[in-house]
Amino acid sequence: MGDPSNGTHLLLLSLFVRTFGSALSFLSDKSAKIFVAGHRGLVGSAIVRKLRHLGFTNLVLRSHLELDLTRQNDVESFFATERPQFVILAAAKVGGIHANNTYPADFISINLQIQTNVIDSSYRHGVSKLLFLGSSCIYPKFAPQPIPEDALLTGPLEPTNEWYAVAKIAGIKMCQAYRIQYNWDAISGMPTNLYGPYDNFHPENSHVLPALMRRFHEAKVKGAKEVVVWGSGSPLREFLHVDDLADAVVFLMESYSGLGHMNVGSGKEVTIKELAELVKDVVGFEGKLVWDTSKPDGTPRKLMDSSKLATLGWTPKISLRDGLVDTYKWYLENVEQ
Ligand SMILES: NC(=O)c1ccc[n+]([C@@H]2O[C@H](COP(=O)([O-])OP(=O)(O)OC[C@H]3O[C@@H](n4cnc5c(N)ncnc54)[C@H](OP(=O)(O)O)[C@@H]3O)[C@@H](O)[C@H]2O)c1
Repeated sequence: MGDPSNGTHLLLLSLFVRTFGSALSFLSDKSAKIFVAGHRGLVGSAIVRKLRHLGFTNLVLRSHLELDLTRQNDVESFFATERPQFVILAAAKVGGIHANNTYPADFISINLQIQTNVIDSSYRHGVSKLLFLGSSCIYPKFAPQPIPEDALLTGPLEPTNEWYAVAKIAGIKMCQAYRIQYNWDAISGMPTNLYGPYDNFHPENSHVLPALMRRFHEAKVKGAKEVVVWGSGSPLREFLHVDDLADAVVFLMESYSGLGHMNVGSGKEVTIKELAELVKDVVGFEGKLVWDTSKPDGTPRKLMDSSKLATLGWTPKISLRDGLVDTYKWYLENVEQ
């Protein structure tokens, strides 16, 4: 029989590890093999830029064409061959309200498949730590504002993106379940609305910020007198530059190993009107901005409470204006040729 106090000690240690995780340093070994899933997307590309900037030399990257993450056998053999030490999961099927409404089966099944395959294979092939990315749509439609992490699963979701949200909630729960059952270091980060280089500037199905940038740019080029924007401009929204998110991802990989998911926001709200004026200014469109108030406004306010992350020691560094200048420069060099 072992020493009972030693048993208590082990139990406490196991509880500590389950709650706070192991103390393995992410930043100490720049040759560690890291798989960034979704490296060509808005988020994945920013994470790759950040890791390269920090001197990481052993990134494993696969495009969707090279490795379809919905295919379990392919994902299995990829992990068995490559055996990465760290995984950052930024691959997902993402889209706006229209896409979610039109392809609900794709949004729930593709995301469940990608994350189940990657999380499970990572655990079974010896990955030391995994970070799963979700989004603020996981929270109930009428969550308190700013939205704290513990608002999760306290009420009905916004119906327009519930398929995507349910998959993302399952991803958070999967990370928690693997931590509890296997003592495995899987964490989740929930970013607010992101923008920056490699954003989607599609004329019909892009988010509000890149859509405004494109419209003001095209109006400037055509010499248009005005740009009409839907709604009153009064809803409040939060935006985070994707390079700040990448910085937060590295921070979480290094400093956080808890059971709970972590909000990642700028903590700063702007009205859509303020945002539109700022984008107009950055783009240099000199015509009029007209609000079509006969069109719907959407949710009046959506802000995440990121105080948990701030308490750990991370805060964003890029102001909205600087971030917009950087994004417009990228747009001019890459989208508008
Ligand atoms: N954008 C935002 O404002 C925002 C906000 C909060 C959270 N997030 C989260 O951040 C994550 C990434 O979003 P994002 O904006 O970077 O999206 P994105 O630009 O559309 O990039 C998604 C990436 O996933 C890859 N992918 C999709 N299906 C795949 C599959 N079956 N196999 C392999 N790769 C696949 C895509 O590759 P292909 O391009 O080759 O298909 C792409 O590289 C998502 O989990 C999202 O919820 C984003």
